[in-house]
Amino acid sequence: MTTEDEPPSGLLIEGAASIATLAGGLRRGSTQDDAAEMAGASLSVAVWDGRIVAVGSGPDVTAKVRAAGYDLEKFRVIDARGGLVTPGLIDAHTHLVFAGTREGEWQMRQRGSGYLDVLKAGGGILSTVAATRAASTEELLAGARGRLREMLANGTTTAEAKSGYGLDTATELRQLEVIDRLDREGPVQLVPTYLGAHAVPAESRARADGTESYVAEVIREQLPAVARQGIARFCDVFCEKGVFDASQTERIVYAARGHGLPARIHADELVASGGAELAARLGCVSADHLAAPSEAGMAALARAAEAGTPVVATLLPATSWFLGKHHFAPARRFVQSGVPVALATDLNPGTSPTLSLPLVMSIACVELGLTPAEALVAVTINAAHSVGLGAEIGSVEAGKQADLVIWDVPNVAQIPYWIGSNRVRTVIKRGVTVLERS
Ligand code: NIG
Ligand code: FE
Repeated sequence: MTTEDEPPSGLLIEGAASIATLAGGLRRGSTQDDAAEMAGASLSVAVWDGRIVAVGSGPDVTAKVRAAGYDLEKFRVIDARGGLVTPGLIDAHTHLVFAGTREGEWQMRQRGSGYLDVLKAGGGILSTVAATRAASTEELLAGARGRLREMLANGTTTAEAKSGYGLDTATELRQLEVIDRLDREGPVQLVPTYLGAHAVPAESRARADGTESYVAEVIREQLPAVARQGIARFCDVFCEKGVFDASQTERIVYAARGHGLPARIHADELVASGGAELAARLGCVSADHLAAPSEAGMAALARAAEAGTPVVATLLPATSWFLGKHHFAPARRFVQSGVPVALATDLNPGTSPTLSLPLVMSIACVELGLTPAEALVAVTINAAHSVGLGAEIGSVEAGKQADLVIWDVPNVAQIPYWIGSNRVRTVIKRGVTVLERS
């Protein structure tokens, strides 16, 4: 029986000690620190047909549900046993679909090799490209499916997922097809992004004008094919000195818009490359990494937020940490200047082999100086806005899709506090319990 054939059903979560609702939309500045937490003896969330119907104290919720004409007898009841309820977590930046692993390169880096030097020598991203091209679609599906299972177990109910390990039309389309199939399979909902401009492939590197000729291929061949395929919802570019510069990124972003694909870009991950400035000027949905933005870039993002056209700063501290950097994104500056901050894993085999948003929250608290509430905002409502789904997910509010996590902790701070330990008890996606840990 498919989900569509199932009759609508109700779910009542009761006995929560705390609900971090994240109600009220995108958060920036002083509201970044407000998870809109309700605390009480016995809090409830009622869900009908995959949507949240009511949130609040137990008696209030029952009264509202009855007043709205629902038969509470038909609701399945989950006892939250004094735990914490949050929205399902949203991982706003992942390279989910790939073949192979790169632990050898990681050890080379520990002995002193630079990330971009490894790439220049034909390793790094390019070694994952070779493995991904050689893998069958079934192999790519199986690998990504396994990773999604573990992400779900860590509380992730929605993830953005990029192509970018094909760097040729056929493999880029195949990666997007894998993302689409896994999204349909569920339970983790996926937001597909086309990242053809992730690196210059080996075959173009052989030419003197390698980068330019590959940019032309992305614009003239890959983007039209991606648009025809109709799966991708965003276009991304690795805008970084030595990879794609700001002017090449700008041309790709404009071409993508012509095909109806808004842009989110990898900006200033390793050195200031004009990425933050560009993201602000072009009105990208999100600027990601931002571990090394220029002063001008930070000011441009602050002005865009002030003008009411905020670019979400999607920070990826697990990457800086795994790369052994001692320099992290200036998260406090972003918060102080009113730039909305999201956090994501950047899951990929080279720079961030992690599947856990709670771990990313821990790193963000320690290395970026975010508070636990700021970090939770960053993986829920702000992440939802980062992937264009702010109206649908990211908060526990009546009318929203019922994506919820019940945690085995009494408050928000204990999610990042238990470093590397999984405190997820129950995960609910679209009103259905999809994971229960004992
Ligand atoms: O976001 N920086 C570019 N892309 C990824 C790394 C991809 C890889 O090394 O395979 C990132 O860190
Ligand atoms: Fe990335």
